[in-house]
Amino acid sequence: MTTVALEDRRVGEVLVDFRDVGMTYQGGTLALEHIDVTVRRGEFVTVVGPSGCGKSTLLRIAAGLERETAGECDTRTDRVGFVFQDATLLPWRSVQQNVELLAELNGRSRAERAVTAREAIDLVGLSGFEKSMPRELSGGMRMRASLARSLTLDPDLFLFDEPFGALDEITRQRLNDELLRLFVAKGFGGLFITHSVAEAVYLSTRVVVMSGRPGHVVDVVDVPFDMPRDPDIRYTPEFGDLVGRVSHSLKEAHA
Ligand SMILES: Nc1ncnc2c1ncn2[C@@H]1O[C@H](COP(=O)(O)OP(=O)(O)O)[C@@H](O)[C@H]1O
Ligand SMILES: [Mg+2]
Repeated sequence: MTTVALEDRRVGEVLVDFRDVGMTYQGGTLALEHIDVTVRRGEFVTVVGPSGCGKSTLLRIAAGLERETAGECDTRTDRVGFVFQDATLLPWRSVQQNVELLAELNGRSRAERAVTAREAIDLVGLSGFEKSMPRELSGGMRMRASLARSLTLDPDLFLFDEPFGALDEITRQRLNDELLRLFVAKGFGGLFITHSVAEAVYLSTRVVVMSGRPGHVVDVVDVPFDMPRDPDIRYTPEFGDLVGRVSHSLKEAHA
């Protein structure tokens, strides 16, 4: 059994570390409490929990877009990719121009941008659609473009806020496989939010289960299958057991 990407790469350094993190918004909403989560390079950590439990807050803190009010979140890299539920493409720019956006904002030359964007477009399987406008793309393709845009940063830490939640099941599964292929190829650390227990187990090396608000961690489940995953593991008893455990923990937390 080979756990791909875990030997050759500089696997294992901590990319983000939440230590007893709490978050109270101005106005008094207590969103998060006592969060301890660590993501290392080569780990894909998924957080599942009900709406409003603070999942997006957690990601925004990791990205430095929000400041924790208790404990400490230590993000140890500047190269952080962020993919949101909405693809957030600029409607007046082509796929190529959208994917170049971050490099453009970072002041990269036109030539450098073009090369980086083309590579990223190729990696997400959108070659041939460089000149397409967002409105001409399916939801899945828009999400691929959004992924490509973040990939141009070559992130060490990749944050995903329910990116595939609005997609149909088949498209979602396909994108799950694409994402794991990228994960193995690039060796980043992933922190992924989802409502889907099956998606969480399929994608992750570790699943973190959160309670309702104020969100705290109620269970942590390691997922031992090789990466990238064989789609057929979904039909194995071992996979079913893990899905069962995560579902049970979610239910217990909300009983
Ligand atoms: N900027 C904000 N100001 C005040 N309250 C907020 C803000 N953002 C989120 N909240 C509140 O914090 C809680 C957690 O929100 P969020 O992190 O978006 O949860 P989730 O992503 O799990 O649905 C919710 O009750 C939400 O209303
Ligand atoms: Mg959210």
